[in-house]
Amino acid sequence: MIEQIEKLLEEIKSITANNAEELEALRLKYLSKKGILNTLMAQFREVPADQKREFGVKLNELKNATQEKISSLKEALESKEEEQCELDLTRPGYPGKLGTRHPLSIVKNEIIDIFSRLGFSIANGVEVEDDWHVFSAMNFAEDHPARDMQDTFFVEAHPDIILRTHTSSVQSRVMETSQPPIRIIAPGRVYRNEAISYRAHCFFHQLEALYIDKNVSFTDLKQVLLLFAKEMFGNDTKIRLRPSYFPFTEPSAEMDISCNICGGKGCPFCKGTGWVEILGCGMVDPNVLELCGIDSKEYSGYALGMGIERITNLKYQVKDLRLFSENDIRFLKLFESAN
Ligand code: DAH
Repeated sequence: MIEQIEKLLEEIKSITANNAEELEALRLKYLSKKGILNTLMAQFREVPADQKREFGVKLNELKNATQEKISSLKEALESKEEEQCELDLTRPGYPGKLGTRHPLSIVKNEIIDIFSRLGFSIANGVEVEDDWHVFSAMNFAEDHPARDMQDTFFVEAHPDIILRTHTSSVQSRVMETSQPPIRIIAPGRVYRNEAISYRAHCFFHQLEALYIDKNVSFTDLKQVLLLFAKEMFGNDTKIRLRPSYFPFTEPSAEMDISCNICGGKGCPFCKGTGWVEILGCGMVDPNVLELCGIDSKEYSGYALGMGIERITNLKYQVKDLRLFSENDIRFLKLFESAN
């Protein structure tokens, strides 16, 4: 019997397994309930007393050797598998996750696209501006309430430096550095010192348009507004202009479009009126032209400005402004198909 164990010890040294099935077969052969080792254990009882010690030691040796061998074969198989994974250059790549464009970017790009087709090019300003470009050059009186601490963020050490409260500041920047014809749009972020709620935020986005040339009239403005509204909200969209006041335009107006949610019949969104306000506009005040170095006797122009969040709300009915800046992936994913 001792001889049999010696033979098995030799045999164990040379066993190999090429895959998991072969390994399992070996485990069953040697270590399972009815395997070789258990059979030998059963025979232990019949071994004469004087040989029991030697037999026991050998049997233990065989058991340990078998268990070790099977574990090392298992490890070898696993690391071989890993190696193969790493080296398999033919495996298809993992599909990369595509992001979605932000709804405000989708809408901004759409507006840019419409105005580009009308010959407007993009002008850039700065978000940290001086009082001159935001207010003074835009004909705001020294005591205009918009300059108030409640509306404007000031840079503490420099009371003249502020975060722009509207993209109209790009108008003054462009007019100062170029002569007509000027035909620009300026999309960008603006800041106001407002408490954050579902309908107000301390930063939001606007898009400004400015056209200055000889003989530009209110009719030109109206035509561009109508075209924009139809392109943006559909061919059936109607517009209406209500007289308004802005320091930098004269005359000034606010434009409503027929509510694109109820088609003008009246709904909670338009508060039953059938109309929703979407932008401010007007003829550039001659004072602004002069302040920015453009001869107001030779040139005239129109300007308009809209909130991109507002237009996005109308297109997609987003009820809470805060969603735009929270980066909640569940919200952003809703716009996957609009990209
Ligand atoms: N700057 C205005 C605002 O922030 C919007 C505006 C109104 C822009 C009339 C214009 C305009 O260019 O002509 O409320």
